[in-house]
Amino acid sequence: MKDELQLIQYPENSDEKYNLDFMSLENAKKVQAFHASFPVYKETPLAVLRETAGLLGIDNIYVKDESYRFGLNAFKVLGGSYAIGNYLAQKLGKTLSEMPYERLVSEEVRKELGDITFVTATDGNHGRGVAWTAGQLRQRAVVYMPKGSAAERLENIRAEGAEASITDLNYDGAVRLANRQAQEKGWVMVQDTAWEGYEDIPQWIMQGYGTMGYEAYTQLPEKPTHIFLQAGVGSMAGAVAGFFAGVYGKDRPIITIVEPDKADCIFRTAKAADGRLHFVTGDMDTIMAGLACGEPCSIGWNVLKDYADYFISCPDYMAAQGMRILGNPAAGDSRVIAGESGAAAFGCVSEILRNPRYAQIKERLKLNKTSRALFFNTEGDTDRENYRSIVWDGIYGRPV
Ligand SMILES: Cc1ncc(COP(=O)(O)O)c(C=O)c1O
Repeated sequence: MKDELQLIQYPENSDEKYNLDFMSLENAKKVQAFHASFPVYKETPLAVLRETAGLLGIDNIYVKDESYRFGLNAFKVLGGSYAIGNYLAQKLGKTLSEMPYERLVSEEVRKELGDITFVTATDGNHGRGVAWTAGQLRQRAVVYMPKGSAAERLENIRAEGAEASITDLNYDGAVRLANRQAQEKGWVMVQDTAWEGYEDIPQWIMQGYGTMGYEAYTQLPEKPTHIFLQAGVGSMAGAVAGFFAGVYGKDRPIITIVEPDKADCIFRTAKAADGRLHFVTGDMDTIMAGLACGEPCSIGWNVLKDYADYFISCPDYMAAQGMRILGNPAAGDSRVIAGESGAAAFGCVSEILRNPRYAQIKERLKLNKTSRALFFNTEGDTDRENYRSIVWDGIYGRPV
């Protein structure tokens, strides 16, 4: 079905739920304290789009706006910096609380550690965060990008001092290349997705995203009824869903995961519900570059299978619609600059609320005039040329 949104519910088949201690409120507070030791740290804003919510027929919309994160236009640095901090603390036999930013970047620590090369694969945002962190530490970063990556995203990574290149592989192929290089050359792989045998760093990365959840939790004036999270490999969605499921317990909001229909590996895994992960292969040609991942993160999936209520596979035009609405909200609401991946979940929900064709899905999700929905704008206009084509020229409009 082309350009059709699909929604499914994962069958609850076990009372034994994945342990959420690693994303507990207490842990998230510690992670936030680590990030707060960075001179660039500033809480990102929580935009309140009450007027826009009214136009769309719900009570309120909250958008945690990560385009303000560390001047890097995306949330991803939270994960890479926390994981690298943990890795280095462990290497030095210290706890992370003994290694705030000032110590981590000190000459003394630099000498003790010697030269380290961090390597990763990225569609842009994660690699920029790793490159930024390595730059702060005066260490080396090597970054591989999938084919078709935007030139601006490549240049932004290089501007942080990393050696970055666009490969002729898809995202998952680039991850395997980075892993091989790490093994052959003794580099440290800092990947934002986990698989069997590679789970420490990805789990730290997920914990790093806890700062975003924690800030939103402290900023929200009321409990949301719904949380919508976009997913690539599902680390971010798993981290944020896990955090909110932990803090709200049984009364948690309805949690829905949104993926591009061209890279809906978590949707397919949920749909098959056979205890295995399901992959998407090939080019995954979607405008939501940050979400163009074909292999779910094992830890992310473990959280989502137990704590996410719905999974959605969504066409590109909905993300584009989200970018346009967030950039031009109803009068009185503040504007949010959202890139293709950042606007994905919001765009999908805006279509469910606006298009009568999705009335049943709206009802299944219990979206009505009492709903208060929370979204995460995980990136700003990280590809400005494409941003303008979508918002100014209106490409990727709703198909007629
Ligand atoms: C802007 C943006 N949003 C969301 C995500 C999804 O994160 P994850 O891959 O952990 O699902 C990414 C991943 O790169 C991203 O760049």
